[in-house]
Amino acid sequence: KADLKSTILEMNKLAAKYFYVQLKSERGSQAYSYLKNRELSDETITAFGLGFSNKYSDDLYKYLREKGYSEDLIRQAGLINTDERQGVYDKFWNRVMFPIMDVNNRVIGFGGRVMGDGKPKYLNSPETVVFDKSRNLYGLNRARTSRKPYFLLCEGYMDVISLHQSGFTNAVASLGTALTAGHAALIKRYVQEVYLTYDSDEAGTRAALRAVPILREAGISAKVVRMDPYKDPDEFIKNLGAEEYEKRIHAARNGFMFSLEMLEKQYDMNSPEGKTDFFREVSRRLLEFEDELERNNYIEAVAKAYRVSRESLEKMVAKMAVNAG
Ligand code: UTP
Ligand code: MN
Ligand code: MN
Ligand code: MN
Ligand code: MN
Repeated sequence: KADLKSTILEMNKLAAKYFYVQLKSERGSQAYSYLKNRELSDETITAFGLGFSNKYSDDLYKYLREKGYSEDLIRQAGLINTDERQGVYDKFWNRVMFPIMDVNNRVIGFGGRVMGDGKPKYLNSPETVVFDKSRNLYGLNRARTSRKPYFLLCEGYMDVISLHQSGFTNAVASLGTALTAGHAALIKRYVQEVYLTYDSDEAGTRAALRAVPILREAGISAKVVRMDPYKDPDEFIKNLGAEEYEKRIHAARNGFMFSLEMLEKQYDMNSPEGKTDFFREVSRRLLEFEDELERNNYIEAVAKAYRVSRESLEKMVAKMAVNAG
């Protein structure tokens, strides 16, 4: 088993090098231009080991066979597929390649992006004996040595790369999969604080709200950075620059206050009834803080942010407590 793991890591490393060489060759010119159009420097391309899976349908397979690996092993690495018509073929075809590294810089899997609007946008390695998606974070191999006491947690490959290129070398991503307790435990080894910088769409907002309690559970304090009116950190930085991004970090709200901002949208805040219903729900949520001191701190924060009197909010929470029995 230990042998299988190291063999798959060897194959992955060879594949990553193969993709990298292809990117730098004549054949990879379209992929190289794609990355240049996305404003990545040569230094960044090298640092993240980006590559290109060419248009030949089975050349990586043949290359690894020549190196002495069996078809079965190459399949276990997730690098090939088989079907009746085509036989064995490379999993990644005509895509820009993002090797996924673990904390020890070993290549554990890949993501491949189409250079246009094809589907799926990203094709990822399956889970293998070396690739557990819920226990690895993209960019962690580099972020772990950044001197910041917090991580910037984002959604995608390009967000991490763009942030690192702009000097935010503490960015990591869970790559589209929901944040798990495994991710949180991994983060906790390095930092006690996380700034969630997910996409500003509804899916990203919901994912951020779900991530907060998971981080909290692991003893990590979480704040949410808003990326609107841009889609994600990559686009934000391209449009407004690193300084504005830094300002958003400073303006980040704690998870609870962010959740209230989202909750507000469900109520008509211009009518007395709507507003009252909103504060009832807020009170119910405040009640969930078991620690009295913490609850009082949040009551104070809410009163301040929504310009309501602290006393009346306290009374409403107390009433909820009675109702909740
Ligand atoms: P997004 O759709 O937000 O893509 O998915 P992106 O990262 O902004 O990509 P660009 O900027 O268009 O290149 C966020 C992440 O979800 C995963 C990827 O890890 C992606 O980076 N994802 C997304 C997939 O695995 N497959 C997909 O088809 C789409
Ligand atoms: Mn190929
Ligand atoms: Mn998204
Ligand atoms: Mn993007
Ligand atoms: Mn995105």
